[in-house]
Amino acid sequence: MDWLYNEFKQTGKDYASQEEVEIYDPSHDDFRNIRQEIAYAESWILPNPNASILDIGCGTGNFSIHFAKSFQKVYALDISPPMLSFARAKSNLLNLHNIDYIHGGYLNYKLPDNSIYGVISSLSLHHLPDFWKAKALDRIFLILKPAGKLYLHDVVIPNEFPEKAIQDFIDLQGERGGNFLREDTLIHFKEEFSTFDWIMQTMLINAGFHIQEVSTRDKVLKTYLCEKPPII
Ligand SMILES: C[S@@+](CC[C@H](N)C(=O)[O-])C[C@H]1O[C@@H](n2cnc3c(N)ncnc32)[C@H](O)[C@@H]1O
Repeated sequence: MDWLYNEFKQTGKDYASQEEVEIYDPSHDDFRNIRQEIAYAESWILPNPNASILDIGCGTGNFSIHFAKSFQKVYALDISPPMLSFARAKSNLLNLHNIDYIHGGYLNYKLPDNSIYGVISSLSLHHLPDFWKAKALDRIFLILKPAGKLYLHDVVIPNEFPEKAIQDFIDLQGERGGNFLREDTLIHFKEEFSTFDWIMQTMLINAGFHIQEVSTRDKVLKTYLCEKPPII
């Protein structure tokens, strides 16, 4: 398909820069409780030592590394080689050798249909424009086993008072992390592809998912716990 979106080109924040990779975890600590996020993901994608999971846009590897302790195999995917090297170094230090780090993205990876128990997509789907988000969700649906789980967390714009929610979040990020985090958030909305909640939910449903829970923090940080229906 020669019109396939070029997902290997970084949009907005350049996560292929070594400097951005090194500052990623400390700067995110200013506005996220990553342990809490991982615990929430794990309450949905329950530990299963006989199963495989896929972490798309794994970044510095926090989710992959945690899930590798209770799963047979983790496929950790990212389009940024420095992110993958950084995450790999972290997991080597912990002697975790069941993570396959793959240079790839939402639209390119190849895994067999009905083979994956759970998929994690945290703060990465917004790098694709909406048409390609829908395609990415279709692909995730295909590779999940029946009753497989998707944990989707991202910056998503509320249907009501969207401009105010965006401005409030930018201001809040400035209070939490000074100019760096404020700029980071500005770039997010100016150059990346966060979409509306109603579009995200419609895309999930059209892909075939059952949305079991939606939660919101800071007006624009949304988590969707989704399931591929079991075969009856
Ligand atoms: C904001 S970071 C999120 C990292 C991690 N999942 C987290 O929750 O902290 C976004 C990551 O998505 C990656 N990314 C961007 N576009 C992607 C794509 N099309 N497929 C896979 N990963 C992508 C970036 O390289 C970056 O490492």
